[in-house]
Amino acid sequence: MSWTPKSWREFPIKQVPAYEDAKQLAEVEARLASFPPLVFAGEARNLKAQLAEVCEGRAFLLQGGDCAESFAEHHADNIRDTFRVMLQMSVVLTFGAKLPVIKVGRMAGQFAKPRSADTETIDGVELPSYRGDIINGIEFDAASRVPDPERQISAYRQAASTLNLLRAFAKGGYADLTEVHRWNQGFVADSPQGARYEEMAGQIDEAMAFMAACGVSSATSPQMGMVDFYTSHEALLLGYEEALTRLDSTSGEHYDTSAHMLWIGDRTRQPDGAHVEFLSGVKNPIGMKCGPSLQPDELITLLDKLNPENEAGRITLIARFGHDNVENHLPQLIRKVESEGRKVVWSCDPMHGNTIKASNGYKTRPVDRILTEVQRFMGVHQAEGTHAGGIHFEMTGQNVTECLGGAQAISEEDLSSRYHTHCDPRLNGSQALELAFLIAEGLGENRNEIAKSA
Ligand code: PEP
Ligand code: CO
Repeated sequence: MSWTPKSWREFPIKQVPAYEDAKQLAEVEARLASFPPLVFAGEARNLKAQLAEVCEGRAFLLQGGDCAESFAEHHADNIRDTFRVMLQMSVVLTFGAKLPVIKVGRMAGQFAKPRSADTETIDGVELPSYRGDIINGIEFDAASRVPDPERQISAYRQAASTLNLLRAFAKGGYADLTEVHRWNQGFVADSPQGARYEEMAGQIDEAMAFMAACGVSSATSPQMGMVDFYTSHEALLLGYEEALTRLDSTSGEHYDTSAHMLWIGDRTRQPDGAHVEFLSGVKNPIGMKCGPSLQPDELITLLDKLNPENEAGRITLIARFGHDNVENHLPQLIRKVESEGRKVVWSCDPMHGNTIKASNGYKTRPVDRILTEVQRFMGVHQAEGTHAGGIHFEMTGQNVTECLGGAQAISEEDLSSRYHTHCDPRLNGSQALELAFLIAEGLGENRNEIAKSA
């Protein structure tokens, strides 16, 4: 059977919401299909070309943002603060690792969530699980938990408005490298990471003053005054993704125009399942989460299906094994990919394998385990002679208390004070910068070793 935007409907599917009114759902999907695309196919191709550089170790992928965006927290400040921390992390990585950093937000469309259980029980009351604002409401009452197709329209409109602001920030002056000090704000600036960042920003300033004296500035070189910022989300709700899939007139190929990059979650990557089928036919760059259950042969089957032409930049494998499991799983996957000559970006998601329940019931993640997973990920790549190409993380620019530890030493008792996530615990701005410094050091060291041995 040949691929079409709706061929996934003939395949077994997991994680589908139980919509009550199929006619209403179809009507919403038809409306979405008539709306303008959110991104342009050419932008997705540019991202793919940049990811091809990551495959070769000539760039680094920084992909992060909310676990789940929400309708309630759709504010300019939230978008700006997440964007700003991404810029700070990017500067730290560019400066430390001397590599261009490809910036991809889990933003402007990251609404649908896979769940480990279909229902949730509180005090003896059992209701359908919350599946993200694009599907149902987080409030624990029967009416909120009913999947409502109209939410897809709200999600589309919110994604459009978020993307609009991101584009304005990226190209309109906010991201100008001469603003490097101004990105250090509020609680992040007051943290030890903020101080470290400030010192580095001073060095960048000096380098830019020198360049300006040589006649190179954002006035003469516009690339210093703006950045490329791409969007991504998990392609989970396939009716929505199908409705936004369009035939690109330039290439004659299909692109999912809901975001530049889409990924397949660890729960929906069955080689014969609907999610893999859908993503096999759109030409966007695709991510795939790799958890402990993924076997090397199965990975090759998936790559055959998702990237039969072995195009560099098409596939990003996002390893999420847990801090104590990386070394048990990653080496054999890397060896298999290498022996088969497959071109992939290896990225590390140090979040989803490190979720624990605190003694007071909060779902949390210890920052030290997050950092350990990243270090081990980089260590394995160094041992295998392959590239640690990127990082995939859940973060907010807000001063939340969702992950334990870090330089602010957030304790179990602190979790309740600013725990705002709609799904998984996120790094706050200061913890995210800490992660960036750690990676920059690791990549910088690796670079020095390569230089020495050359
Ligand atoms: C996620 O990225 O939010 C997620 C659910 O990840 P995974 O599919 O790796 O569990
Ligand atoms: Co998550």
